[in-house]
Amino acid sequence: MSVEQSAQSRTHKTSYDPETHARLTADSDAIVARYPQARSALLPMLHLVQSEDGYVSPRGIAFCAAHLGLTTAEVSAVATFYTQYKRHPNGTYTVGVCTNTLCAIMGGDAIWEDLSDHLGVGHDETTDDGAITLERIECNAACDYAPVVMVNWEFFDNQTPDSARQIADDLTAGKPVVPTRGAASVCSFKEMSRVLAGFDDGRADEGVGAGVPTLRGLQLARAEGWTAPEYSDASTGAPAGSSEPKVGGEQSSAQRPATTPADVSPAAEELKQSTDDAKES
Ligand code: FES
Repeated sequence: MSVEQSAQSRTHKTSYDPETHARLTADSDAIVARYPQARSALLPMLHLVQSEDGYVSPRGIAFCAAHLGLTTAEVSAVATFYTQYKRHPNGTYTVGVCTNTLCAIMGGDAIWEDLSDHLGVGHDETTDDGAITLERIECNAACDYAPVVMVNWEFFDNQTPDSARQIADDLTAGKPVVPTRGAASVCSFKEMSRVLAGFDDGRADEGVGAGVPTLRGLQLARAEGWTAPEYSDASTGAPAGSSEPKVGGEQSSAQRPATTPADVSPAAEELKQSTDDAKES
């Protein structure tokens, strides 16, 4: 690689070309418009970056920081906290095996062992062909269908080592796989990341969400006439909501000191000042 090519390569890694930058800027403006404060848009913007690069890239971090008036250290701190944000290029499909307690004892651990051996990768590792990133995942609120495997967050219920291996083989071969609930197909990691950034792909209402096992308890409760007891504050016996924190009062987030200038809206600053004045008088 020549010095010039090397320089171009470094430029590519640390910034977007003008066309991509303009497109990401327009998308980011749409995300920011949903929130009272721009910095609140960081989480969906990190998904947006993943939809472009397949992971939270250095240039993606720089883009988010510049767009939101944050430092790259602040953006990195958030990106490294959540496991859905990838710090290295992800495969086309994230195959997640639930090994949380219920799935584990229902066969999740066996599925994990078999799939890890079959694909030759461990947790958060990607197959050499770039098709699959394998993950151990926590409970996906699908325990009624344990053991559960997720492919790019679509449900594959009641799996076995053999059925999970077949899913992985089909994904590797480029064959379509069909989730057992929800959407009728599985999109790519980048496409899924764009949905998580808040851009609807029109598939959210496809298929069945809550199936028969999910609704069994509700049906039983209705048949038996069971209802939940009235909630009250356990410590005081007061009705629910009567002891919730008030804005500017004890336990209110309005007491939290600002971390950046963008963290303070004029209205919040005025309220904080009047609260502080009231305390002093
Ligand atoms: S423990 Fe696996 S979905 Fe709940």
